[in-house]
Amino acid sequence: MGLTEKVLVTAALPYSYAPRHFGHLAGAYLPADIFARFKRMKGVETLYVCGTDENASSIVIEAMRQGMTPKELCDKYYPIQKEVFEKLGISFDIFSRTSKPIHYKVVEEFYRKLWEKGYIYPKEIKQWWCPNCKIFLPDRFVVGTCPRCGAPNQYGDVCEVCGAWYESFEIKDPRCSLCGTRPEIKTRTHFFLKLSALSDKVLEYVRDKKFWRKATYNKTVSWLEKEGLRDKDITRDYEWGPPAPFPGAEGQVIYNWAENLLGYISATRDWAENIAGDSERWKEFWLDKDVKLYCFIGKDNLFFHTILFPALLIAHGDYILPYNVVVNEFVNLEGEKLSTSRGWVVWLHDLLAEYDPDVIRYYATAIAPETRDTDFKWQDFAEKINGELIGTYGNFIHRVLSFVYSRMGGVVPEPGKLGERDQELLNLRTEYAKRLEDALEGCEFRKGLRIILEFAQEGNIYLNEKAPWKNPEEAGTTLYTLIQVVHALAVLSAPYLPFSSRRILDYLNTGERVEELRWSDVEKIISPGHRIREPKPLFRKITKEEIDEKLRRLREIKSKTGS
Ligand code: MF3
Ligand code: ZN
Repeated sequence: MGLTEKVLVTAALPYSYAPRHFGHLAGAYLPADIFARFKRMKGVETLYVCGTDENASSIVIEAMRQGMTPKELCDKYYPIQKEVFEKLGISFDIFSRTSKPIHYKVVEEFYRKLWEKGYIYPKEIKQWWCPNCKIFLPDRFVVGTCPRCGAPNQYGDVCEVCGAWYESFEIKDPRCSLCGTRPEIKTRTHFFLKLSALSDKVLEYVRDKKFWRKATYNKTVSWLEKEGLRDKDITRDYEWGPPAPFPGAEGQVIYNWAENLLGYISATRDWAENIAGDSERWKEFWLDKDVKLYCFIGKDNLFFHTILFPALLIAHGDYILPYNVVVNEFVNLEGEKLSTSRGWVVWLHDLLAEYDPDVIRYYATAIAPETRDTDFKWQDFAEKINGELIGTYGNFIHRVLSFVYSRMGGVVPEPGKLGERDQELLNLRTEYAKRLEDALEGCEFRKGLRIILEFAQEGNIYLNEKAPWKNPEEAGTTLYTLIQVVHALAVLSAPYLPFSSRRILDYLNTGERVEELRWSDVEKIISPGHRIREPKPLFRKITKEEIDEKLRRLREIKSKTGS
């Protein structure tokens, strides 16, 4: 460890055809952000990369639907995605795009090598063909019945009910997803990835990952042990996406799930070239075996990140493999599964129009689906924000700051001799920092948030006990002590609530920048005589009326969509 520890953090690359919702934030971008912010504070060299996933069949289809080219569609959504993440304080070092030339280059180099190493071979396959649209129907171009579990209305690549990953041609009762026509069969030569040859190596890689979340580890191992890996068709007959660099594959592109994962590498190269100003620096991350790669994803992406991605990287041989794949379950809404088509969803841009980003970050962490699905409930949202974030955390900080500001002339008082109780509270800073650090190292973000809240609660208890408004002779010692605790809270909550931390530091007038805080600053002392600024309450209370309004709108959706 020490100074040389390096961490590469990734969060699932969002498709660029639809905005992201609350579940995406809670499931990937926010925990990854908290982790990256924490690591930076520890002085660890940290890079957090992401970008839009632009070459999927779903994008080609959505573009057709909107009467645009895929490129136009992606250009429309890229800035929207980027802005939402910025507003939420997601501290990507780069937010790249898989339509960039650098990505095409990475994919080409990658697959040339796999071809040379004998991991790719051509094979004749049957493909659905729509006689009406005159196109082949891979992946999302075809809908039908899942060949494994029999669920109806599934796409041609992945079953959303059982999670199976199959070839389009296996789907039962196929229909063209564009026009509904029953497709015909044509023969084509496609290129296959020899995944079957990698099963054992992937299993070996996963074996010592017992520290992964239990469900992640178990699902991965049982998948490998029960099903093993089958060879996979990785080329497609459309024109959007990185071309397949195999002899005889002219006119074909690489299948989305065989190229998007490499987007993490190309995003890092994009960062090196265009942000770090040294096109070689990506190597310090991807080619250094001591770097720890953390991939944050939702459970629908599990297979691709715990099995396919390692398999690809093992086959290639040069790059590091994920050290941890941090997988979250789903966030439902008011007890029901999300449905974007029905409008049963909480969009991030809608939340941001009304709420402080830290309020959203707080709730997304408080109900983070780390071990099981959780539920976004408006009533619960109001209770957690009003009761915990404001009632425990915000009020404590505001009480201390406004007491010093209005009753002590805005100056940190000279303490008398610190008593046992004062010293005890000051010592809690180190103790809570250690507990929080352990939680964050273990990717237990919910637990970490409880620890911060508990610390604020300790401050509240001490403040009520000491009641400086009744005990003027001790008030100097009390408030001196409390100011240190407020500062410590600003430090410890910086990974979770960066906007609030910034404001607290601003009221404390310490001149510190939230991005430059170090974990050890938790023990920093603000000296007597230091002048603070006028504080304002950190958060606005959520009213009953606004919650009623939200619930009314949801009831309306229910009655309209009849479920
Ligand atoms: N676009 C995918 C999704 O939103 C995630 C892709 S992650 C990647 O589900 F790494 F594979 F790109
Ligand atoms: Zn059709």
